[in-house]
Amino acid sequence: MINVAAMTSDRVPHPIPETAYAVFGNPIKHSKSPAIHAAFADQCGDDITYRAVRVEIDEFELKATRFFERGGGGLNITLPFKERAFQLADESSDRAKQAGAANCLIPLPGGKLRADNTDGVGMIRDMVANHGWQLSGRRALVLGAGGAARGVMHPLLMENPAEVVIANRTAERAQALAAEFSGHNVSVLGGGFELLEGQTFDLIINGTSASLANEMVALPEITLTERCCCYDMMYGAEPTAFMRWAASKTPWAVSDGLGMLVEQAAESYFLWLGKRPDTRRVIQALRLQLSL
Ligand code: ATR
Repeated sequence: MINVAAMTSDRVPHPIPETAYAVFGNPIKHSKSPAIHAAFADQCGDDITYRAVRVEIDEFELKATRFFERGGGGLNITLPFKERAFQLADESSDRAKQAGAANCLIPLPGGKLRADNTDGVGMIRDMVANHGWQLSGRRALVLGAGGAARGVMHPLLMENPAEVVIANRTAERAQALAAEFSGHNVSVLGGGFELLEGQTFDLIINGTSASLANEMVALPEITLTERCCCYDMMYGAEPTAFMRWAASKTPWAVSDGLGMLVEQAAESYFLWLGKRPDTRRVIQALRLQLSL
């Protein structure tokens, strides 16, 4: 736990209303979270504000603590502060513990903070509720072993896939992540991409950041079943390199991560305000904006 007491100043802070929400990150300029939460608030008839705040790297704990001391209603946390948000909180949900990271901070009575992680559940909800994919019984491949891949493991295992294989450029990271999540009812294997040669999957999730550079990870020959679903946690105006690769393999369905972005926000909204907005309208509006 980071001691923030030493960081707080003794000047009298101006209060932030408890209807004030924000996302903290660095960089934050292109965040869609303010627009998403404004749409949720509009739908639900809530009078809230939601700002995107660029926080200096060494000021996260100070700024987050001050925000809540002054009465802020809730924070979303994005890169690179998710692990530090988890450390800062007094208590955390199981899914935040499993991810070792938090994207949502919720104030508790008495000035304490609770950390949660809504990323993984947001992705699963997009797959299951929005796309109608059934995940139980599937042989799943997770590409990547960084924070994004770690965050989906717990919610994915909750869906009872037949098996999960984690493959990563750096084999040791995948092996370590697989070892952490073994012991559930589902078998979890980890290794380098060469491990995949000749294997068959019916669910593939891209949790690498390769799409940011418009690159597809270098996979050996693998087989996708007819019902195979492929999900990239990234999104953009154009299909990502992973989505193009998947489409060339003629799977049953391919999706980017735009729905995940909206669903993780909706879960945060629910944690703060106890209301579930209609996400489909918001996803459609964002999709339209991206295409313009
Ligand atoms: P995040 O928190 O977004 O997951 P990260 O922890 O830096 O970010 O992890 C990035 C992931 O993308 C890692 O699994 C990384 O592989 P390595 O562990 O080998 O670094 C993976 N990755 C990034 N670019 C890649 C590329 N061009 N090909 C394959 N994997 C890539």
